[in-house]
Amino acid sequence: MRRTEDISMQAHSRFSSRRRLPFFLAGALLLVASLTVLMWRPPVVHGSALAVDPGPRPLPAAAGSFYSALNSNQKAIGTRLTQIFTEVNFVAGGPLVKTVGLGPRFNSNSCSSCHAYPAVGGSSPPNNPLFGIYQLMGATNSMPSFITSTGPVIVARFPLKSDGSRDGGVHQMFTISNRTDAPGCTTMVQPDFASAQASNNIIFRQTTPTYGTGLMELIQESDIVANMNSNLSLKQSLGITGHANYSDDDGTITRFGWKAQNKSLLYFSGEAYTVEEGVSDEAFPSENDESIASCLPPFPVPPGTNKTKGVPDDRNDTGEAPKAPVNFPGDLERFSLFMRFLAPPTPAAPTPSTTNGQTQFNNIGCNMCHTTSFTTPSSSIAALSKVQANLFSDLVVHHMGPGLADNVLQGNAGPDEFRTAPLWGVGQRFFFLHDGRTTDIVQAIENHRSFSNGTYPDSEANTVINNFDALTQTNQQDLVNFLRSL
Ligand code: HEC
Ligand code: HEC
Repeated sequence: MRRTEDISMQAHSRFSSRRRLPFFLAGALLLVASLTVLMWRPPVVHGSALAVDPGPRPLPAAAGSFYSALNSNQKAIGTRLTQIFTEVNFVAGGPLVKTVGLGPRFNSNSCSSCHAYPAVGGSSPPNNPLFGIYQLMGATNSMPSFITSTGPVIVARFPLKSDGSRDGGVHQMFTISNRTDAPGCTTMVQPDFASAQASNNIIFRQTTPTYGTGLMELIQESDIVANMNSNLSLKQSLGITGHANYSDDDGTITRFGWKAQNKSLLYFSGEAYTVEEGVSDEAFPSENDESIASCLPPFPVPPGTNKTKGVPDDRNDTGEAPKAPVNFPGDLERFSLFMRFLAPPTPAAPTPSTTNGQTQFNNIGCNMCHTTSFTTPSSSIAALSKVQANLFSDLVVHHMGPGLADNVLQGNAGPDEFRTAPLWGVGQRFFFLHDGRTTDIVQAIENHRSFSNGTYPDSEANTVINNFDALTQTNQQDLVNFLRSL
């Protein structure tokens, strides 16, 4: 906590002097106004681009399959793993013992509702699934205004608490109040999103895809650091720095989530289960809101359905009779294996346009953050071993300027810092950037650019985005076509 607070203080003091800069500059500029006529060159039109987003590549999905190199035992458990990632959770009395535990607070009821497109494991589908979930089984939730039927699946965080201290956590949109599978639970209240919006104390995060995350989990720390420290003079001339995010637990580099805040798929699964669905588990054993006893387990079990469970909701059942074979009875292991087994998206076959587009992408410096590939070390899962992962990310975080800053600190990622988003699979994606603010991939590029406002420094991408705008229309378009081929 202390470390992260220091970052925001530094950012503040280091850049507040810039507020005065424009006034000095204004004077200086008047003096040289006549000279500029002689030194004229075509202006860089900030925030405008000549390329057009061709839109997402249509289905069939170029992602969502398991590695073909899985061995037969691994393939044999694939169906069961998919069932777990797609299962719908109930408060109590669901069809399977494994499907109880939803709530008390939740955003959705299954991993695959949010991680949905272009196939299970991915990100937001074109039509928001939350409308089919929020009032299921008699729940009396209202839909927050920021969730729209054709908008991205986003979750809400409040940067600050009401006393002004740091919050930053997810505030679940829905409660189990009045659901028929939560008898007696009637008084939970949804967060006051309208007030949070009125006071500008809310930010959003959209769903990231999980394809290829098994490879990202394996990439060695030494490779991330070596890549970060490569091409230093070029990076310096472009204004690119960046740093890794580190785990408070073991001091190693974390890499999952929009701020690279999470260490492993197991840990992310544990957190997502309780934060997104309210299913407490062996990594996060507490219910996500203990304030109303009538909304906590155990709930009565409807006749003819399976038994309810205690806290945590999901666990390895040591009290049950042994079943053979039980290699990984807990859901967290199954979620993690499901995601580990998911191969990265398959890019479209290259064309002359996309090939030139990749050349432009590299020439102007996009690849100084969006690192083309890393190679995994040897893994106990042969399909993941010594594989080239073309993720287009350096897995470190960068200052992205006030335009993207969300004022949330995670680990040592500051309020304006984000992990270079992996670009594999963007060809079929509908929504871009951490809050899903645009469906236009050209706008996603332009939104990388913003200038210090006194609180946050310039975006490290500014020079590269100027380079993009300075490309000819053909080269810009080829670059965009290249992105849509991924
Ligand atoms: C309500 C929608 C929602 C549900 C349900 C959900 N997720 Fe997510 N998922 C997200 C969002 C939003 C993020 C980005 C989080 C962030 O960085 O703030 C995310 C990110 C992730 C990531 C990180 C991927 C990366 O590259 O950084 C993993 C792994 C993940 N989720 C796994 C799961 C699993 C497993 C489940 C089910 C137990 C699940 N999620 C349920 C919305 C959801
Ligand atoms: C300084 C590092 C940096 C540079 C340079 C950079 N990017 Fe990014 N890029 C990022 C970060 C960080 C994000 C995530 C920002 C966010 O979501 O707020 C991102 C996000 C994206 C996204 C959206 C991906 C998603 O999942 O929503 C696209 C597309 C993209 N970049 C393309 C490009 C292209 C094309 C270039 C070159 C013109 C480029 N980037 C240059 C750091 C960089």
